[in-house]
Order: sequence, then structure tokens, then C-alpha cells
Amino acid sequence: MPIERTFVMAKPDAVQRGLVGEIVSRFERKGLKIIAAKFIKIQRDTAEEMYAEHKAKPFFEGHINFILSGPVLAVVLEGESAISLARAIIGKTNPLEAQAGTIRGDFCQITRKNLVHGSDGPENAKREVSIFFKPEDILEYKRNDESCFKE
Ligand code: CDP
Ligand code: MG
Repeated sequence: MPIERTFVMAKPDAVQRGLVGEIVSRFERKGLKIIAAKFIKIQRDTAEEMYAEHKAKPFFEGHINFILSGPVLAVVLEGESAISLARAIIGKTNPLEAQAGTIRGDFCQITRKNLVHGSDGPENAKREVSIFFKPEDILEYKRNDESCFKE
């Protein structure tokens, strides 16, 4: 399995509801390593760049306004198959379809306010990490439990 990096973000609803720690802790406990993090208020052009693939969709404007509505925690995670592992922990986009045990399945009700973003593949992961972080923001280190996640 490849070592991957992925971009996840606790959205403004997660901050407002005091769920940032819960969300980060789910990734941590799965064994994904935090290698960068930043608590920020996103600028409009950055949000539009991040969500560029959705520009023509009817929910775009409302979604961008929501992303700009308050601070977010932007995080880079690293681990084996980190991109799909993080997506599995997050759950399906629509909370009505997200399974119990996933972040979206456990804590939210509507698609717009679905608490957390996770990159959907290697290209978007690379692109999204580079929108929010410079190479020097990313810290390389070993976690003591890394051998527990290898055969
Ligand atoms: O976040 P994810 O990759 O699961 O879903 P997406 O299809 O890439 O959509 C990005 C985000 O736009 C979602 O997480 C929702 O917050 C928002 N969205 C929305 O507000 N209404 C929709 N009908 C679809 C997505
Ligand atoms: Mg997406």
C-alpha cells in the first residue's frame, strides 16, 4: 500500500459546534499522522480554487458562502492509503447516506453542513495540499505506533 498525503478540513460548522477535536481525533486514532495544520479564515478566491470542479453546480455559491462563514482547521494527514482511509472515516457526502460510525454519519444532518472535507484522489490531494501549505509547513517525523500499522 502506498504512503499517501491527503488534505482534510474541519469546516465552519465543525468549529461552531465544538467538533474539531472529535474529528481530528478520529483520524489520529486510525493511525493517520498529522504533518501540517492551520486554523484559518479562508479567502473567497482560495475557496473557489479549492472547489473549482463544482463551479457550474447550483450549490456552488451557497457552499462557498458557507465555507467563508467562519474559521476552519486545515490539516495534512499522512499514512498508507491515507486518501481513501480518510474518506472512509468521513463518510458519504449526503449525511442521509453516510453510515453510522463515520463522521458525517454520526454528527450531521444536511449535505451543505457536513462538517469535514477530504481529498477524493491523489491529484486533488496534491493540489489541495499546495493551495493551503508551503513545503516548509509540512513536518516529517515518526510516530511511535507506526509499526502497528504495517505487516
Ligand atoms: O465533500 P465531498 O467530496 O464528499 O462532496 P463533493 O461532491 O465534492 O461536494 C463538495 C461539498 O459541497 C460537499 O461536501 C458539501 O459540503 C457541498 N455540497 C452541497 O452543499 N450541496 C450539494 N448538493 C453537494 C455538495
Ligand atoms: Mg469532493
